[in-house]
Amino acid sequence: MNQLPEEKSPEKVEKNLAEFPKKVGIIYSEVKREYFPTEAQYVTEKEAENDAKVVGGYLEKLGINVYYYPGTPNLVVDIDRDKPDMVFNLVGSIHGQEYLSSTVPGILESLDIPYTGAGILGESLSYNKFLVKELLQSHGVPVPHFQLMPTSTMPLEVTMRYPLISKLNEIHGAVEITKDALSDTEKHLRERMKFLISTYKQPVLLEEFIAGREVTAILLEGLNKKVYLAEKVFKVEGDPYQFASFEHQWSEEAHYKKYQDPLLVELVKRAFDVLRMSDYGKFDVRLDQSGRYYFVDSNSNPAFGPRELDCALANILDIYGISFNEILKRLLLNTMRDAVGKQLLPVPGTNGDEEKPETTNVIEQVSS
Ligand SMILES: Nc1ncnc2c1ncn2[C@@H]1O[C@H](COP(=O)(O)OP(=O)(O)OP(=O)(O)O)[C@@H](O)[C@H]1O
Ligand SMILES: [Mg+2]
Repeated sequence: MNQLPEEKSPEKVEKNLAEFPKKVGIIYSEVKREYFPTEAQYVTEKEAENDAKVVGGYLEKLGINVYYYPGTPNLVVDIDRDKPDMVFNLVGSIHGQEYLSSTVPGILESLDIPYTGAGILGESLSYNKFLVKELLQSHGVPVPHFQLMPTSTMPLEVTMRYPLISKLNEIHGAVEITKDALSDTEKHLRERMKFLISTYKQPVLLEEFIAGREVTAILLEGLNKKVYLAEKVFKVEGDPYQFASFEHQWSEEAHYKKYQDPLLVELVKRAFDVLRMSDYGKFDVRLDQSGRYYFVDSNSNPAFGPRELDCALANILDIYGISFNEILKRLLLNTMRDAVGKQLLPVPGTNGDEEKPETTNVIEQVSS
């Protein structure tokens, strides 16, 4: 909706726009092939600089001066020199190490620069899928049976039922989530774990494979939290053994259709809070054949960009009629507002989760 509501005078809208920052930084992963143990992991990061420029192009069209920062230790000096009003944190790895992304909020906190996305704890948790599962489970968010395997010879708990899926505990982007990630036998499982642990030097998280459908949830924060749900449309309709493999995520265009369930919306909001995410987050949820939900993945600061970058955030919000410009404006104002003072945000547990008119509507209405 582009029209302004009658009660909002142009002066009020102008005032709101005046809150927009003038100087915005974008921090992105600095990527070199030699940083990564495999081509697959490199693929998930190699477009980082281009993607940052695409996002920057949209910000420039909003009249904002954009500064770009590769995510290296030099960041500290460069940002301290430029003093942007705020930054978009799009970092997914530093020197190829995904878990080091969690240092970026720490740097920004110490420089007192407002930033988008999760803080130190939220980003740190994101790179430990085992801890995420433990936290979700202990807060009543359903997850599949899981077990952390620091070595490939560790005994399997008796509760674990095949087929099992093996995941790298600290790496996202569906790296090594191929057909071979699924094991039906112990022999296959042990070989798979041996390969993963020796190649990526980290534990493997085993999960029971949930046959069924898949829903992706995006939470976008304005003054309140809004959840957008979409079911993944796989190539072969109705085959419960399909999943979003590496090939699926990196070489096929994603298809989604709207999905609605207030129960899942509540679970997503809970997961977002428990995992200390901020601004936006993504969750992958499987539904088994009797319709039960299982949270299989959570991403603070998920891939960010407009539809042409084919990321879940923009694709899913697009089917709800929310453009990338609107997403940017919400994040710009939310981050600035957040930095001004938490007292301007709803008090947690009172009205934070209520659906009520938001000031962010102004943003939607002035969007081009
Ligand atoms: N326990 C499970 N049961 C069924 N399918 C699963 C399970 N875990 C993962 N998958 C499938 O594999 C896909 C990728 O797994 P997951 O999201 O955990 O990996 P990731 O590397 O963290 O991916 P990303 O960070 O890109 O979302 C999921 O979207 C889902 O289709
Ligand atoms: Mg995922």
